[in-house]
Amino acid sequence: MIPETERALLLHQLKNYLVFLKESGHTHIPLNNELSELPVMAVPARVFRDSSPQLLDSGMKPTRPDQQSKKALEPAIRLDQVREELGDCQRCKLCDTRNTIVFGSGNPEADLVFVGEGPGADEDAQGLPFVGRAGKKLTEIIEKGMLLNREKDTYICNIVKCRPPGNRDPEKDEVDACKPFLIKQLKAIRPKVIVALGKPAASTLLGRSVPITKERGTWHEFEGMKLMLTYHPAYLLRAYTLENRRAVHEDMQKVLKVLNT
Ligand code: URA
Repeated sequence: MIPETERALLLHQLKNYLVFLKESGHTHIPLNNELSELPVMAVPARVFRDSSPQLLDSGMKPTRPDQQSKKALEPAIRLDQVREELGDCQRCKLCDTRNTIVFGSGNPEADLVFVGEGPGADEDAQGLPFVGRAGKKLTEIIEKGMLLNREKDTYICNIVKCRPPGNRDPEKDEVDACKPFLIKQLKAIRPKVIVALGKPAASTLLGRSVPITKERGTWHEFEGMKLMLTYHPAYLLRAYTLENRRAVHEDMQKVLKVLNT
C-alpha cells in the first residue's frame, strides 16, 4: 500500500507531467516501446520552492534541500484540491458564456501572488490568466521591473475565474460566488505578499470600495498576509504616463523589500 501523502505526491507529479506534455504540444501518450520518445521534464519548479539561480538572483529565500520534504508540497496539493472543488463551476451566470475556467497559474509555493480582475478573451481561450496585452505588461513588470521570474517566483489569479462577457466588470453576485475560491487559493499558497491589481481586486479583498488612485502603494492585511494595492496593468496601458508607470514601479519596490526580509 502506498501511504496517502506519497500517493498524493505521485498523483500531483503525474498531473504536472501531463500538463507539461500538453503544453509542449503532445496530444496523446504513445504506448510501450514509444514511451522513451517522450520528453523528460525537469523537476517541476511549481512544486518545489527550489534554490534555482533565478530565485537566488532575485534575492528570495530558497528552502534548504533537507526542507524539501513532503510538507513543501502541501500548497500545491491544497491548490489542486481547491481546483477540484471548483469543478465545472455553474455557481454564477458567467458559466453560460465562458469557454474555459481560468483558475490561476504559476508556482503554488511562491512568496508573491498577483490578483487581477477576471479573464479576458485571450485568457478565456487559453485557460491561463494574464496572457493577453495586460498580461504582457504584467510579465514585464515582474521580469524587467522586479527581476523575478513569472512562473517560478509568482502565482497569478483573478477575483473571478470566468470571463465576464465583453470584458465588463464582474458583477456582485459573480464576485460573491467566486470569492470563497479566491480565499481558499490564497490560503493554500499563503504567500508573503499579495498584490491586488486595480480597484475591483483591491475592493474584493478588502471588502469595501477602494479608491485605488488614493490607496495604491499602501499596505493592508488579508487573512494574516500582507496586501499591497497597485494599478491594474490594463489601466497602465490605457493611461501610459510617466507618473503612473513610476507609481507601479515604486509599489513593486516596496513589495520587493518585504520579500527580501
Ligand atoms: N485582466 C485581468 O484582470 N485578468 C486577466 O487574467 C487578464 C486581464
